[in-house]
Amino acid sequence: MQKIYIHPLPVRIWHWINACGFIAMLITGVQIRYVGQIDLMAFRNAVILHNWVGFVLIGNFFIWFLYYLFSDKIKVYHPELNPVKHYRDSLRQLVYYGYGIFKGDPNPHHVSAYHKFNPMQSVSYQIIMLLLVPIQFFTGLLLWDIQRFSTMVELFGGVRVVDTVHVLIFIVFAGFIFIHPYLATLGHTPTAHIKAMFTGYEEIEDAARITGEGEPGNPFKGSNREPLDRSP
Ligand code: HEM
Repeated sequence: MQKIYIHPLPVRIWHWINACGFIAMLITGVQIRYVGQIDLMAFRNAVILHNWVGFVLIGNFFIWFLYYLFSDKIKVYHPELNPVKHYRDSLRQLVYYGYGIFKGDPNPHHVSAYHKFNPMQSVSYQIIMLLLVPIQFFTGLLLWDIQRFSTMVELFGGVRVVDTVHVLIFIVFAGFIFIHPYLATLGHTPTAHIKAMFTGYEEIEDAARITGEGEPGNPFKGSNREPLDRSP
């Protein structure tokens, strides 16, 4: 079993603050939306908590964003530009999750420092982090003080439109909060990926490690494997 360093400290700090914050936002959001029907906490407390945690999450987002913007690890978010390869690899990953995993097939994706996401993770994290999360923060900010941002609210079609967008993205995240942790348990042990998100190190089974793969001129060129990076 080899260990490779794939989750840098800023990403791990961002991730766990974000995870706790998202759960708090979902619970308080449900309370605000279904006031009178659900009684998890006082409406006023739900609003106060939702606002404070929202601002913490906006600040926290910049740990993730600035870290990737100013480090070469941004490569993990580079999209696959060859559509044939992208769709073929995504389909392989989908078949693995839906079928292969249940009969013990190996994961078609091989993790490395600059290639830690499989094609499905890569696309979903790009959409979530660069589109949905920023839109959610922006619409949340507008709804936080409708008077102050009235010009902007009108520009985007009024309170109903801004609120609908905010609630629709909330529904996406409510689904994500179940699917994402489930997929996170599909490592070589159920806790392997989750541990890695705490320690930074992912354990790789030896059979999956072929030194020099991904280097120019080697027989595995074109494979999604890269040389291992063991340094933080
Ligand atoms: C509360 C339960 C959560 C658990 C157990 C969990 C677990 C994990 C794990 C193990 C990873 C490592 C890579 C992977 O396997 O996908 C990861 C990555 C990631 N998670 Fe979560 N997560 C949780 C909540 C969230 C939430 C609420 C978000 C909301 C946006 C989120 C967004 C992400 C993103 C964007 C990455 C990729 C991070 C990067 O390296 O840039 N996670 N998560």
